Amino acid sequence: MRTHTVQLRWLSSEPDPAHVARWYVMLDPEERARADRFRFTPDRHSFIAAHALLRSMLSDATGRATRTWRFVTSAYGKPALAPSLCNSDLQFNISHTRGWVACAIARVAVGVDVEVVDRDAATEVRGVFSPHEVGLLDGQVGEQMATTFTRLWTLKEAFIKATGEGLRRPLDSFSFELDPLRITFHADRYPVADSRWCFLETSSIPGRRLALAVQHLAPEIEARLATPEEIGERRLAA
Ligand SMILES: CC(C)(COP(=O)(O)OP(=O)(O)OC[C@H]1O[C@@H](n2cnc3c(N)ncnc32)[C@H](O)[C@@H]1OP(=O)(O)O)[C@@H](O)C(=O)NCCC(=O)NCCS
Repeated sequence: MRTHTVQLRWLSSEPDPAHVARWYVMLDPEERARADRFRFTPDRHSFIAAHALLRSMLSDATGRATRTWRFVTSAYGKPALAPSLCNSDLQFNISHTRGWVACAIARVAVGVDVEVVDRDAATEVRGVFSPHEVGLLDGQVGEQMATTFTRLWTLKEAFIKATGEGLRRPLDSFSFELDPLRITFHADRYPVADSRWCFLETSSIPGRRLALAVQHLAPEIEARLATPEEIGERRLAA
């Protein structure tokens, strides 16, 4: 993979159960233990799908066997490849929502978020947005409001996931402009570390919005739907 290439895939996490069984055995003992702790089957399948998708994408990009990937977690909770691995400069991020998962990999910081377009959420939690973003929502109702809200939400999540800061960065310390897409930092609220960011959205998943944040001004983004059949074990040279 070239330095400025980003691969983004999204995958249904409600496939034939035979696929989920096949994906489960691709995971390491820790991932399997986490999967086993989910109480509800759709959540478990979603977790398994996301982690199998990640392992497949990493192996396709590097030629390394699927089961050999090992992970660590940053101080703020962002997962990364174990530094002892070759190819540990690869960065990644995954997201799950009801019925769908997404994964991005790159050699620069990436964050991805996929969410259901939900009218109730749009009414209840818009208070976390910046005044500019609240202004974008003002006057909108129904489906339009839910879509604008979910676009802002996924973009903000993708950005805080890319930086790895999570909710440590106040969500009103930066604002999105939607058409065209642009981020503005409010330095009085939180320090601006780096302003070279690129964002991508897709509405290709029915009833959902997906946003990708990349720490690069002009990345080459390869984005598409992944099929359940292509996710699987790769027994390649380590
Ligand atoms: C990680 C976080 C930012 C997003 O969580 P989320 O939207 O619930 O979950 P997603 O499905 O999109 O992402 C979960 C994945 O992100 C990754 N992740 C966890 N912490 C992360 C962090 N600090 N940075 C980047 N990625 C992280 C993990 O791989 C995780 O999947 P896993 O548990 O299967 O390994 C979380 O800190 C959070 O709690 N968000 C709160 C939601 C909120 O209030 N958002 C406001 C947006 S406007």
